[in-house]
Amino acid sequence: MENAILAVTAARLGIFLGACAVVGLCVFLVCYSLTKRLKVTEVFADVKGTERTEGYARIGLISDLHFPMFEAGRERVVAALEKADVDAVMVAGDLCQNGRGVEQMLEFMRFLAAELRGKTVLVVTGNHDAHHVCGEKEEEIAEYCAKIEACGNNVHVLRNEIERVPVEGLGFDLVVCGFDDMTVSNAETQKELFERAAAETGENGRLVLLMHNPDIMANIKEAVEKSAVNSLTLAGHTHGGQIYMPFNLEFRLLRNDELPKKGYVYGLYDYCANNVLYITCGLGQSFLPIRLGTTPEVAIVNF
Ligand SMILES: [Fe+2]
Repeated sequence: MENAILAVTAARLGIFLGACAVVGLCVFLVCYSLTKRLKVTEVFADVKGTERTEGYARIGLISDLHFPMFEAGRERVVAALEKADVDAVMVAGDLCQNGRGVEQMLEFMRFLAAELRGKTVLVVTGNHDAHHVCGEKEEEIAEYCAKIEACGNNVHVLRNEIERVPVEGLGFDLVVCGFDDMTVSNAETQKELFERAAAETGENGRLVLLMHNPDIMANIKEAVEKSAVNSLTLAGHTHGGQIYMPFNLEFRLLRNDELPKKGYVYGLYDYCANNVLYITCGLGQSFLPIRLGTTPEVAIVNF
């Protein structure tokens, strides 16, 4: 009698575990399928109280490609940028997940540079590039960035550097201030760079702060607020909360980043009176090859 009860219990447990495995597999497959989707988001990034009577520059923003964990499809990504007729492309870091992705990433960058020849492609590094791929070693970061720049004459990596990009037909320049990743930079350097870029912006410039981790904004907030120059910040890093957790739990409990804890996770924000911030949810994945509640994105930011 006891043996019969044990056999029934074991059978029920087996059915229960089997059902859990099937449900788990289905959830995984649905989440994996989200990594293969691509959305194109278009926003108008107006600093509060300003009017763009002379027109908008169109910036194609991509970030967090995380090769080899990139499923968005290089042709679709580049086609979306071409279709949007962008004035420039900006890549906000984390191009690679680890050393294994470098060759695939370079292949993507060569394809992007060739298809968008005539358009400037500006790149900054992220924590995965500087830390996971290059071990925060200056020589390795320099070599890695040189390989990216060799992908096309129009590709420039900005390592705490400023570049002016003329906007065709509109008579103004984008003044792009590209920050090195936070893992290899510090608040003082970031503040000095911002102040230099603001001073160089001039009357026919529009200041764009390109960075991987939006937390750089916390380091330079005082300087930004003090400045008379309006600016747009473009960042990535959060993946928009790659695997959705309610109540912002991922950032509250599992990560140290400052801005996401305050709710700056994905989308367009008035960061302060004279700065508007766009955080993209990126194109690739880190840690697990799945997404939930967010899909890969090409953002078209009008500024
Ligand atoms: Fe990332």
